[in-house]
Amino acid sequence: MKFAASRLAQVKPSASAWVSQAAKAAIAAGEDVIDLGLGEPDFDTPAHIIEAAHQAALNSETRWIMLNLPSNPAGAVYSNAELRALGAVLAKHPDVLILSDEIYEHILFDGRKFQSFAVANPSLKDRTLTVNGVSKAYAMTGWRIGYCAGPQALIATMTKVQSQICSGACAIAQAAAAVALSGPQDDVRRFCAAFEERRNLVVDRIALIDGLTLDPPGGAFYGFIGSAALIGAKTPSGEILSNDAEITAYILSAPSIAAVPGSAYELSPFFRISTAASMDLLSTAMDRLGAAVSKLTLA
Ligand SMILES: Cc1ncc(COP(=O)(O)O)c(C=O)c1O
Repeated sequence: MKFAASRLAQVKPSASAWVSQAAKAAIAAGEDVIDLGLGEPDFDTPAHIIEAAHQAALNSETRWIMLNLPSNPAGAVYSNAELRALGAVLAKHPDVLILSDEIYEHILFDGRKFQSFAVANPSLKDRTLTVNGVSKAYAMTGWRIGYCAGPQALIATMTKVQSQICSGACAIAQAAAAVALSGPQDDVRRFCAAFEERRNLVVDRIALIDGLTLDPPGGAFYGFIGSAALIGAKTPSGEILSNDAEITAYILSAPSIAAVPGSAYELSPFFRISTAASMDLLSTAMDRLGAAVSKLTLA
């Protein structure tokens, strides 16, 4: 198939690690997912991303670069200039297609304005697929409505595949999505302000917990919390925490906080919490997290 991925690169750190992407690439192409292995991320340093794109694109078998901005899990956001710098790298590699997942476009903090990859790089439009959906901005997770824009040949091929695997998005969800997208956007701005308040609470409270770090996310609704200092720590029952999966199991068992280990995003040692919860609940969670961490004996 002309557009099947024969090799997929996730641009890391943090930019595009939605957990199902690696699995999708594996289904499409065996096991050829490139691990760019950039180590400890600095979420605010686009030089890493550009270097990652170089590494991925220079491999002649790379078919897709997947971006997700603002990102899940780290909330990374890039400026127009940074997106253009990334585009300049990709311009030199005409066989590489670009998927830009922009589902968090409306959830941006500190007055940031959204920059779409395709708008920043109009010369790459004929090989950019822009993906979006109503789940995040309109709190419509579960309504199963997403959409995309891209070159006609690619969309035509996608339509052929999609029509065989999905018998149609429910009419009620389609009508609701049309109203969400075309109606007044006041609620989106209200949601964004609420998410910023919650982001601030989590950033402030994590700063008070010895052993945890949090680079303030620029968008999306997660906290991707650094937990390097907890590796090797001893729990009150004498277990040693040797990775971020064990850290998330520990905070789930005692203080009942559900988190996703960084290893699910191929970025360790971190864990991701969601801030799609009330201020009260987040405050309680931070109290419990602080108490659980303080009970550990650090290595
Ligand atoms: C970056 C990103 N893309 C896509 C999705 C999937 O959204 P949905 O399947 O609800 O449309 C998610 C969900 O968390 C996400 O974080």
